[in-house]
Amino acid sequence: MNNRKVQHIEAALNQEIGKNSFDDMILNHYSIPKYNYNDIDISTVLTNFKIEAPFFINAMTGGSLKSKEINEKLAYIANKTKIPLASGSYSPALKDEKYKQDYLVIKEKSGGIFISNIGVDKDYTLALKTLSETKCDILQIHLNTLQELIMSEGETNFNEWKNNLIKIKENIKIPLIIKEVGFGMSEESIAELLQIGFDWIDISGFGGTNFAYIENLRIDNKMQYLNNWGISTVISLINSQKFQDKANFIASGGIRNPLDIVKSLILGAKCVGISGHILKLLKKYDIDKVVDIINSYKIEIKKIMCLLNCKNINELKNVKYYFINETYQILTQKKKV
Ligand SMILES: Cc1cc2nc3c(=O)[nH]c(=O)nc-3n(C[C@H](O)[C@H](O)[C@H](O)COP(=O)(O)O)c2cc1C
Repeated sequence: MNNRKVQHIEAALNQEIGKNSFDDMILNHYSIPKYNYNDIDISTVLTNFKIEAPFFINAMTGGSLKSKEINEKLAYIANKTKIPLASGSYSPALKDEKYKQDYLVIKEKSGGIFISNIGVDKDYTLALKTLSETKCDILQIHLNTLQELIMSEGETNFNEWKNNLIKIKENIKIPLIIKEVGFGMSEESIAELLQIGFDWIDISGFGGTNFAYIENLRIDNKMQYLNNWGISTVISLINSQKFQDKANFIASGGIRNPLDIVKSLILGAKCVGISGHILKLLKKYDIDKVVDIINSYKIEIKKIMCLLNCKNINELKNVKYYFINETYQILTQKKKV
């Protein structure tokens, strides 16, 4: 376990993120501004919590010495920037108590909204254990079928997954987020999650951290042909649009800058999660510089909204947009089926 978590971090840091689906989305330009910068309100909600800015640090790590060190740094950043922070899967601590502190350090040091995370392979009793041990504010449940299938030590029995989701939904009384891990969501998957009763869904799309690539590195690239599997973040958000009056969507997967955040909000996300990019910032800069960068994202989001004549997140849904390249082609095909 210990070793796997460290390998994930190393591989995520080395994975290059170039262009992704956000580059296929072109926004309208408005020459005559409607609002002053100071009129712009970027607050939103994340489940039951009102938050100052529409983004958070999404699930990454726990379960190794290096993870604890990273979680401590992420907690410091969350504290200074007042953004919510999700830990990686609590599974290592459920198996071995010595890892508990990797997660508790977040609660202790971030002082803000703390999100715990477990896999859908865990039944509701383990979800309850996670809540009582971490005292988290929100619980994320992750869906990672492709990752499990590529890992040599991964899960191959999936018959309990849906039942686990139903039971978790019935028995957990704090807010829940169901999430992918970078492979995106189809309309069919979203409809099924809604039917079970989930109303906060992180579509975590393709285009950022790629767990097919990461796991393939660990098995000598045996299933490398799956490295491009997944639904992009932009297409996943478009898939979510017909359900946006019934549920709330979070965008994640390949968020690189404030413009990607704004594009996600335009497509109807209520909030945006960032993982790999923050890990990379932490590797490149000292921690206070990362705090400055994240704080500047809040200012830059406001500036982009000023440019788009939108004074709040809700108004962003009125912005006109166009698609080019691969995203345009996929959408053209989708309309035909
Ligand atoms: C090092 C690393 C570890 C991760 N571990 C978890 C995890 O334990 N649970 C989870 O739900 N997602 C995990 N993720 C996936 C992220 O939460 C996110 O869904 C995915 O990385 C796509 O976002 P990104 O492109 O911003 O990294 C991890 C991501 C990274 C980079």
